[in-house]
Amino acid sequence: MNKSLQAFNTFGIEAYADQLIEINSVAQLREVLQDITEPFYVLGGGSNILLLNNLKGVVLKMSIPGIKVERTFKKVVYLSAGAGVNWHQLVLYAVENDLGGLENLSLIPGTVGASPMQNIGAYGIEIKDVFHRLEAVEIATGKVKVFRKKALAFGYRNSIFKNKLKGKYIITKVWFKLTKPPHRLRLSYGAIQSVLAASGVDQPTIRDISNAVIKIRSEKLPDPREIGNAGSFFKNPVIDVKLFASLYQQYPKIPHYPQADGTVKLPAGWLIEQCGWKGKRVGNTGTHVRQALVLVNYGNAKGSEIQALALKIRESVRQKFKISLEMEVNIWD
Ligand code: EPU
Repeated sequence: MNKSLQAFNTFGIEAYADQLIEINSVAQLREVLQDITEPFYVLGGGSNILLLNNLKGVVLKMSIPGIKVERTFKKVVYLSAGAGVNWHQLVLYAVENDLGGLENLSLIPGTVGASPMQNIGAYGIEIKDVFHRLEAVEIATGKVKVFRKKALAFGYRNSIFKNKLKGKYIITKVWFKLTKPPHRLRLSYGAIQSVLAASGVDQPTIRDISNAVIKIRSEKLPDPREIGNAGSFFKNPVIDVKLFASLYQQYPKIPHYPQADGTVKLPAGWLIEQCGWKGKRVGNTGTHVRQALVLVNYGNAKGSEIQALALKIRESVRQKFKISLEMEVNIWD
């Protein structure tokens, strides 16, 4: 237990691992996998994990670099990025080179390699909308395999790597299909429109959208460098129309997003706020003052304290709304 992981998880939890190996290439990854005898954990930006204990084993920190324009066509460009590339750096690269599709996903913490696993999304788009394919190493054999979009079975904060193939592959490189101008802008999210209007922008570029998203996120979500957190702690629950009808009767102001299959998605942040948790502090932990869905570490919290708070919140929501919140953050035990 001699490697501190505090700087490697955005919750800023102090926990230790036996060893941390930085992986910089596919060849190195394959060698390491061949030699490794201890249990191991694959780490990206550490922005979606909660460390409960010290880890008995080795952490493989995915640092494979490289952003590359792979192919250019009349209207689209295929851009690839190594698993270790910082997500926001990739977005900035695309925006600077006038490649459209990633701008709404500005400022999401984490790395490229982790992004398809949970189909990251924000402000009207998900990675599945721009994903082309990825390369991953099969842990059991060391073989490199290509996965196309269909094979990933993308869902809301979900992919095959969180289900059937969990723990079986390590993502090493991801390709995105981006647009050349004129871009298809995604302006459906109300807050983006408000920010653009307030800054007097009536013909937005992808840079304007990226800047608007950066502004919205910085105002609403805590910066992990200042206060430990892992973004949304729970997923937004999807409920059937019958339960929704009864909740709507009781709470006519409930924000809700009808889904194509007849179900209804509710914002977990609203449900949590209604239970009185918004901005509440419990010891070293709490929920963020401007976004109740984000659990925070006020400093020195243990993973177990954050988990205990999460369980209390989940219980309140279950009692008040008969809804069971599912964690979005992955617990490492
Ligand atoms: N709301 C409240 N109280 C709160 C928080 C939210 O009433 O404390 C209400 C808001 O007023 C709004 C609704 O809930 O009506 C939705 O809130 P918001 O726009 O902040 O988005 P969210 O549903 O809470 C999701 C994603 C975020 C993503 C935003 C923007 C999930 C679990 N979270 O949050 O993703 O940035 O939409 O698109 O789907 C993440 O996954 O880590 C993440 C930050």
